[in-house]
Amino acid sequence: MKVWVPADAAARACGADEVASAITAAAKQRGVTVELIRNGTRGMVWLEPLVEVETPEGRRAFGPMTPEDVTALFDAPDSHPKAQGLTEEIPFFKRQTRLTFARCGRIDPLSLMDYEAEGGLAGLRAALARPPAEIVEEIVASGLRGRGGAGFPTGIKWRTVLGAKAAQKYIVCNADEGDSGSFADRMLMEGDPFCLIEGMAIAGLATGATQGYVYIRSEYPDAIRVMRAAVEAATRAGILGADVMGSGRAFRMEIRVGAGAYVCGEETSLLNSLEGKRGVVRAKPPLPALEGFMGRPTVVNNVLSLAAVPWIMAHGGAAYNAIGINRSRGTIPLQIAGNVKHGGLFETGFGITLGEIVTEIAGGTASGRPIKAVQVGGPLGAYHPVSEFDLPFCYEEFAGQGGLVGHAGMIIHDEGADMLALARFAMEFCAIESCGKCTPCRIGAVRGVETLDRVAAGDPTALPLIEDLCNTMQLGSLCALGGFTPYPVLSAIRHFPEEFTPMREAAE
Ligand SMILES: Cc1cc2nc3c(=O)[nH]c(=O)nc-3n(C[C@H](O)[C@H](O)[C@H](O)COP(=O)(O)O)c2cc1C
Ligand code: SF4
Repeated sequence: MKVWVPADAAARACGADEVASAITAAAKQRGVTVELIRNGTRGMVWLEPLVEVETPEGRRAFGPMTPEDVTALFDAPDSHPKAQGLTEEIPFFKRQTRLTFARCGRIDPLSLMDYEAEGGLAGLRAALARPPAEIVEEIVASGLRGRGGAGFPTGIKWRTVLGAKAAQKYIVCNADEGDSGSFADRMLMEGDPFCLIEGMAIAGLATGATQGYVYIRSEYPDAIRVMRAAVEAATRAGILGADVMGSGRAFRMEIRVGAGAYVCGEETSLLNSLEGKRGVVRAKPPLPALEGFMGRPTVVNNVLSLAAVPWIMAHGGAAYNAIGINRSRGTIPLQIAGNVKHGGLFETGFGITLGEIVTEIAGGTASGRPIKAVQVGGPLGAYHPVSEFDLPFCYEEFAGQGGLVGHAGMIIHDEGADMLALARFAMEFCAIESCGKCTPCRIGAVRGVETLDRVAAGDPTALPLIEDLCNTMQLGSLCALGGFTPYPVLSAIRHFPEEFTPMREAAE
């Protein structure tokens, strides 16, 4: 009997370790031999712990499992109350286009044999057969844009680093993943770590960088452990090191742990932190691509950008580019969270509408009450009301509505949400997380909290000040923390104006 129980942090938080122990104990008691594999998650978080059992038809899913549900898994699997049918036939899973997450949940994350059997290393082999400039052009042709938030074309960034003359260049993977409602980087690192390693090695070959760092937030102990073990295994297997797969080309990697500041996800702040300095934003120029880590040319890319690369190299940039709309090409791993029935990771081509995601795929709110607003793109993302549900998911359309795709995390709120409190939270978050380098953000966010408190107290002069302040923050901030905090605030005011004038209305 072959059984999979995720060792993903979300599944563990839901009791996956206890379920795994119960399966081992039940098997022993019955004298049944069970091969128990701790995989990554399939991303259907509302079904975690999701146990899978191999059958001739495919893997059958059971979830959300408790230790008490394990007996029936052995004794009466066909009538098991938690049976979900074949995993890959579950509608949430079946509707996806899984390129980056194709292996996540299917394999033992630390088995290189599994990894290769499911298509791993094909991209690196393809890259090794081509000169650096051709690899870069393949990524340019794919249309891949940075999945960390800014959406900058990945191939263009690589082209800059390739063209820079330096004795040493670096690849830095941004795995800080500070956005609320985001978890795709973590899931990928815990469920398919070799995919990220392969992507980074390809980036090294493409740009001439021989050293890579993955900067992971300290709140991700499981991802740190899995990534460290995977780097060791890849080095032992000759995928990393002085002679990448016998090519004579070098690429080494190390895992670094961040101390936990939202602003350390901003690339220049991250580089300061990586150099052992305080995580403060650097003014640009110079671009990190020319003067990055230790002043050397550096590619800084998000986990998802780098993890998309092996598929692109294995299947061609044109195949990736064939998916999507506008200048938003390929797939985007959406992260659905908040007050929602079916939360989790849903990888799909750009172009699906916000309404389809939230109502059809995610099944609406967990509370059963009507949806009020969805915040897309983390704490700096705008609130989108139901009237914007026909918005296609892509960089251009969201920017056109005063919002952003960001890292594609989305938090759903039902009608009970207090939009004034959420706007205040955005300002407070900025005030707490500000690196302090520029005045509009450092002082502006504090004044924003105070002024929203005046709005709440019914001061009719306060709201125009908020709009003025947001304007100053947008135009005058050095980075997107201060520059984008106005998005949630202004969108909340625009779509729910009545919530920002309660006392005034009462007085009138
Ligand atoms: C305040 C702030 C926080 C950020 N946090 C992250 C993060 O956690 N992860 C990330 O990949 N990018 C983050 N970014 C974006 C990075 O600065 C940078 O654009 C990105 O790492 C580049 O990689 P990409 O081109 O692959 O997206 C953040 C930006 C800002 C302004
Ligand atoms: S906007 Fe805020 S976080 Fe960004 S540089 Fe200015 S003070 Fe620092």
